Amino acid sequence: MDKYPAKMRYQDVGYAGHYDGARYQTRWAQFKNKQTHQTLMKALAFLKPGSTIIDLPCGTGRFGAFLSGLGFRWIGSDISAQMMAKSQEKVKGNDRVLGHIRSDAEILPFRDKSVDCFLSIRFLPHLPPDVKQNALKEMARVSRQWLIIDHTYRNPYKAFWRDIGTKIGVGSGGKKRPTKEEVFQEIERAGLRIHRVFPVSRFFSDNMLLLCSKV
Ligand SMILES: C[S@@+](CC[C@H](N)C(=O)[O-])C[C@H]1O[C@@H](n2cnc3c(N)ncnc32)[C@H](O)[C@@H]1O
Repeated sequence: MDKYPAKMRYQDVGYAGHYDGARYQTRWAQFKNKQTHQTLMKALAFLKPGSTIIDLPCGTGRFGAFLSGLGFRWIGSDISAQMMAKSQEKVKGNDRVLGHIRSDAEILPFRDKSVDCFLSIRFLPHLPPDVKQNALKEMARVSRQWLIIDHTYRNPYKAFWRDIGTKIGVGSGGKKRPTKEEVFQEIERAGLRIHRVFPVSRFFSDNMLLLCSKV
């Protein structure tokens, strides 16, 4: 099994502390976090109340209290015990949180069709193509119906702002993103159907949330 940077980097107490602290403390980071939560709400509207959701990778638990607060039953899973330890602290005593399970996305320790929905945020764009296919197939196997996944894409409006930033010397020019169609093809190749696409912001973000189901 591949050892790609995103798999290794977070298995470190220092990095987990940094992610949980600095990552979401600036105003800009908080704004982006809020946008993601608001977009997620739109996809969650398709789930039945009380549905069970596996959040992989749960990281430091960005969505545990949020989803359980909306009435969903939540399971956090991640390869990094260090990241999950932070998540565990946040949901201690929450009876809609069914637990945390350490796992590798390519070989999930969950039974077929064991949850209503699989949630995966800030994960797939970090994976090498083969790993991404394996992970998507595993997520589809474990879910009874829904998958909510996010992915970056080449948003021409965002690229425009980014280019201006580069010209005036702020920002690094950013990463090369796949087109929306390329992302859709990868997801469909793993045997999933895309029901709805929710851009995080039509003009200012190159992130979208996809509500998918099994074909
Ligand atoms: C950018 S963080 C995203 C965490 C969370 N979803 C969020 O939005 O805050 C990426 C996470 O992916 C986890 N990860 C990387 N490779 C993994 C794998 N093969 N299986 C499970 N988790 C993995 C890392 O440990 C890390 O917690």
